Amino acid sequence: MSRNYSELTGRIAGRGADAWLIHAQAKDAAQRGEDVIVLSVGDPDLDTPTVIAERAIAAIRAGDTHYTPVIGRPGLRAAVAERQARLAGQRVGAEHVACCSGAQNALYFAVSCLVSPGDRVAVIEPAYVTYPATVEQTGAVIDYVTASAEAGFRLEVDALAAAIRPETRAIVLANPNNPTGVVLNRDELSAIYAIAEQHDLWIISDEVYGDLVYDGAFIPMGALEETPDRVITVGSLSKSHAMTGWRSGWTIGPPAFTDHVERLSLAMLYGMPGFVMEAAEAALREAADTPAEMTAIYHRRSRLAMQALDGAPGLDAKAPAAGMFMMIDVRGVGFTSQAFVERLYRETGVSVLDGGAFGPPTDGFVRLSFAASEATILEGCRRIRRFAETHAPAVDGGRIAS
Ligand SMILES: Cc1ncc(COP(=O)(O)O)c(C=O)c1O
Repeated sequence: MSRNYSELTGRIAGRGADAWLIHAQAKDAAQRGEDVIVLSVGDPDLDTPTVIAERAIAAIRAGDTHYTPVIGRPGLRAAVAERQARLAGQRVGAEHVACCSGAQNALYFAVSCLVSPGDRVAVIEPAYVTYPATVEQTGAVIDYVTASAEAGFRLEVDALAAAIRPETRAIVLANPNNPTGVVLNRDELSAIYAIAEQHDLWIISDEVYGDLVYDGAFIPMGALEETPDRVITVGSLSKSHAMTGWRSGWTIGPPAFTDHVERLSLAMLYGMPGFVMEAAEAALREAADTPAEMTAIYHRRSRLAMQALDGAPGLDAKAPAAGMFMMIDVRGVGFTSQAFVERLYRETGVSVLDGGAFGPPTDGFVRLSFAASEATILEGCRRIRRFAETHAPAVDGGRIAS
């Protein structure tokens, strides 16, 4: 008997899956104790602060191991709303907040509640690797809007306007961006919002790196609305509090949207673990300084990596303004970014991620993560530099010889 799987399984099998092959090999090798340096993933090497972990442990000991309100506990929803009010100046309450299992789950909930088969969704690219499957699982079609390397990976607003069609329902973006670390400024946010208003679109603003901005200020998209209306803010504690494994995130949107998320969550998640929500509330209320501390650490690491790669032949590292990644243009070495990643790992044991996984604009770039100690980053950069010195074409009179 032949077994058929759903159409959805085809829609979630898109690009991005192969990007992790070298990373997976490197992780396995590291576990076997081999001499590898894993700079390919955005999972903080830092520990979740003790006050947060202790709250979860205490909650488990106290028997907080039962079903919970599907939409999230009132205390956590209120804490997320207070954070949003503080950051975005929005009038928000618990009724605007749905607690989810990480920003990834929040993104899935958001698109599932906002777009239908045949709709179109404008996605700003470079785009985080899960976006294609997350959007396309709905049956909607993506129109990618390029933020090109030549434009410093900044969005050209005319390109967004040109991508909007009658069937477009939503704009999806990450601000700050993964992988480029670009942070949108107020003019860019206003221009995007004006396009959404003109065409009556939703904006799904993924702000998981919003707490990790080290160059300039972070303005949430929600700051453009007095109270949530067309902007759905997606956030989590994964990066800001080194809590990737806790799976704690949220959506912030109009109450009617939040009701839909609740019904979807009932069918899909059935609520977050109570002890995780207790820990998450402790993160927001009692570890409010943690994001600033982590930002300082990532900023310092980014400067170290920039210095360590400065002047390396064929490489052009771009200083990020936020987040935990740095993009390196490797085209001058003479390989595709995919070949660069494979050969770098084979020859030096350093794993980085092929920028092509985030879309054509970052083809030719690799993404280096700062989720490792300074010593590890420095050793990784030393090996990358040596690799570039070995393979980059000889420079003759300031020009790369052919
Ligand atoms: C841009 C972006 N959005 C969402 C996520 C998922 O975050 P979470 O761990 O909260 O699901 C990530 C994780 O790396 C990310 O980089």
